[in-house]
Amino acid sequence: MNRIKTNIPGFDELIEGGLPEGRSFLISGGPGTGKTIFATQFLINGAKLGEAGIYVTLDERPELIREDMLRFGWNLRQYEDQELIKIIDGTTSKIGIPSDEEFTLPATGFDLDKLLLEIMKTIKKIRAKRVVIDSIPALGLNFQNEHDIRKAILKLVYLLSRAGVTTVMTTEINEDSKQFGKYGVEEFVADGVIILHYMGLGTQSNRTLHIRKMRATKHSEDLHPLQITENGIVIKKIEDYDI
Ligand SMILES: Nc1ncnc2c1ncn2[C@@H]1O[C@H](COP(=O)(O)OP(=O)(O)OP(=O)(O)O)[C@@H](O)[C@H]1O
Ligand SMILES: [Mg+2]
Repeated sequence: MNRIKTNIPGFDELIEGGLPEGRSFLISGGPGTGKTIFATQFLINGAKLGEAGIYVTLDERPELIREDMLRFGWNLRQYEDQELIKIIDGTTSKIGIPSDEEFTLPATGFDLDKLLLEIMKTIKKIRAKRVVIDSIPALGLNFQNEHDIRKAILKLVYLLSRAGVTTVMTTEINEDSKQFGKYGVEEFVADGVIILHYMGLGTQSNRTLHIRKMRATKHSEDLHPLQITENGIVIKKIEDYDI
């Protein structure tokens, strides 16, 4: 099996060298746990290897993502100009205002099939190997009931898998719930689930990463310390943990 390297320091070695190619993975965690940073790092590191990627943003406007990610030295614009990264803007259409992004949905409102078509066209155009969907709950906001949301998630994952891309989807967990996704379907259709935790105690913060599931992979079962540094996410070994 071919493995797609995230090149997130300390991460690939926990999963036998990388994410199984052509599958879908969930990054699940509460607000501010680093899901967007993880997903962007996955694309940027792919672009550095010459593997093109697509960022489908349903949460934040593309301009804000570009700005936030510059903090880590990641110049998305530069990779966009080289056709190594494309951002698909699924945020503005749902509130009904036009976007000046190159890849966007019409301002008439959210349309899943239009979004899927745009993703598929862009995969072909830049020969993308990596896709990020940020986030599943934001996608879910476009639907009236959970049945339609589940159908949408299944359709999305099916089409991406047929296109052969390796996908990272972000989602939220409710700390009290036994589910690892919001709708109780993502965690089953995904081939892997990575959980990010954050416990802020006064000035001390404690971030961890845990691999809950990774099909076809012997993976670490530990809670790994995670740091957000000026170069992005770094995963530490349990031995490096300061208590
Ligand atoms: N330069 C930085 N250095 C250290 N930590 C940072 C830096 N920039 C952001 N962070 C931390 O990362 C968090 C944001 O990460 P990210 O946007 O990936 O979270 P998220 O899980 O996507 O959150 P949300 O659910 O709100 O989308 C911030 O809340 C902050 O704690
Ligand atoms: Mg986010």
